[in-house]
Amino acid sequence: MIRRLRKNKSIRDLVAEVELSLDDFVMPLFVIEGENIVQEIETFPEVYRYSVDRLVEEVRVLRDKGIKSILLFGIVEDSKKDDIASYSYKEDNVVCRATKEIKDRFDDVVVIADVCVCGYTTHGHCGIWSEDWVDNNKTLDILSLSALNYAKAGVDVVAPSAMMDHQVKAIRKALDENGFERTLIMSYSAKYSSNFYGPFRDIVGSSPKFSDRRTYQMDYRNIRQALEEVKRDIEEGADMVMVKPALSYLDVIREIRRNFNVPLAGYNVSGEYSMVKIASKKGMFNEKDVAMEILYSIKRAGADIIISYWAKDVPDWL
Ligand code: PBG
Repeated sequence: MIRRLRKNKSIRDLVAEVELSLDDFVMPLFVIEGENIVQEIETFPEVYRYSVDRLVEEVRVLRDKGIKSILLFGIVEDSKKDDIASYSYKEDNVVCRATKEIKDRFDDVVVIADVCVCGYTTHGHCGIWSEDWVDNNKTLDILSLSALNYAKAGVDVVAPSAMMDHQVKAIRKALDENGFERTLIMSYSAKYSSNFYGPFRDIVGSSPKFSDRRTYQMDYRNIRQALEEVKRDIEEGADMVMVKPALSYLDVIREIRRNFNVPLAGYNVSGEYSMVKIASKKGMFNEKDVAMEILYSIKRAGADIIISYWAKDVPDWL
């Protein structure tokens, strides 16, 4: 009788195959210019745009709860965007300022900076637009400048998410040549062209103004290609790799875990979070129960690291 193993909670706990630990979690945070700003948007409930001063308070709360890793995204007004995303490598941009403020106060917090340009280009693409598509090599130069800029500000990890070929190689080279051998790279290796990014694009203001991201982000029909992306990223020097989104891609997480030995992150993205959040508010089910089922499934599939907007709630739920 296999049901004997489910007889009571203590026995179920004894035989449970996976556990979640607060150490596994990364909380994504959005930082905007200005002061004393904590702003919510309709499609992304209970996730906020913070000005640097308020972000620092939020990081303190997270750290006190045991969430020590954060992933930063910068938000800028349209007037600061241009065709070459120059804001992304501006020395005192909002991500750099936030990093310095955080590092000054909490040296045990792991600061990861997303490296992409979609939030800083006028057209909203993740690279430099040229001759009817996003030009790979021109984009590499910008991504390298941006990654180096964040490294100088003191981030522990840069996380390139633009899905350009050879972005890891270009960034590793730029970091090493400038004395940042110890800055890690977490590559968004298998990042799919997904419909689950909606709330994120609303909060950042980074939807492409024309065309879409299918010429650089992965086609969701493919899994072998994800293994190839990961293989190349590891060869180019990625310290950690990522699958994104997580929920519809648990098979991809599992397959990468079986084939490679570097730390693997699963990104439980904005749409996955918001659909549960909004349905729960309507009384469809209990948010905590559904969220935990999702987070455990990502761990069970093989992720070592879980990036999730629920990271802040997990300490209260475990
Ligand atoms: C930037 C980026 C995106 C996300 C993370 N980095 C959006 C996109 O590719 O359009 C999405 C994260 C989420 O939905 O939570 N390229």
